[in-house]
Amino acid sequence: MPVNGMPRELISRERLHRRVDELALEIERDFADSEDLLCVGVLKGSVFFMSDLLQRLSRPLVVDFFQASSYRGETTAPGEVRIRRDLDHSLAGRDVLLIEDIVDTGYTMRTIMALMGFRGARSVRLCVLLDKACKRETPVQIHYRGFEVDDVFVVGYGLDYNDRYRNLPYVGVLDEVDVETE
Ligand code: PRP
Repeated sequence: MPVNGMPRELISRERLHRRVDELALEIERDFADSEDLLCVGVLKGSVFFMSDLLQRLSRPLVVDFFQASSYRGETTAPGEVRIRRDLDHSLAGRDVLLIEDIVDTGYTMRTIMALMGFRGARSVRLCVLLDKACKRETPVQIHYRGFEVDDVFVVGYGLDYNDRYRNLPYVGVLDEVDVETE
């Protein structure tokens, strides 16, 4: 286990839930005229946020999931993103709400949003819990933003370190001193 101690709290459970309440109200209002809303969670980090958000919406909607992998190795081009799990549903003519835990460089979301448009979605909107804007390398349009965060290693409420900490009910920071090299 390469991490010592618990992450220190950055965004409390109460703040998260208040913000999710606000985002749900905005989304409910903006999609009031949409007849065919498809909500797409980007695995795995979005699942906790997505679950809380969608339970606050009373309108009809369909849930689907997409999983991508970012390759940042020396043998791949910067920002190369590959599909690991594709959608079950067709996008043609539908309004899509993409739900993501964090936008960092932006490559993952840029690629996924372009793909959704290419597949014929009527509209694509992005709802992100955390925006690490200081790390952006390619522009991404975020329609619904939970919080902006600095360049710190965030975990919890879906976000992980080596697939751990996702189930923390708050967003915490793993300080550099706590993270040892494996
Ligand atoms: C994280 C996050 C985004 C992506 C953001 O996913 O959930 O999908 O990285 O990075 P980017 O803006 O630099 O492209 P990760 O690959 O860690 O998978 P996970 O959601 O399963 O944790």
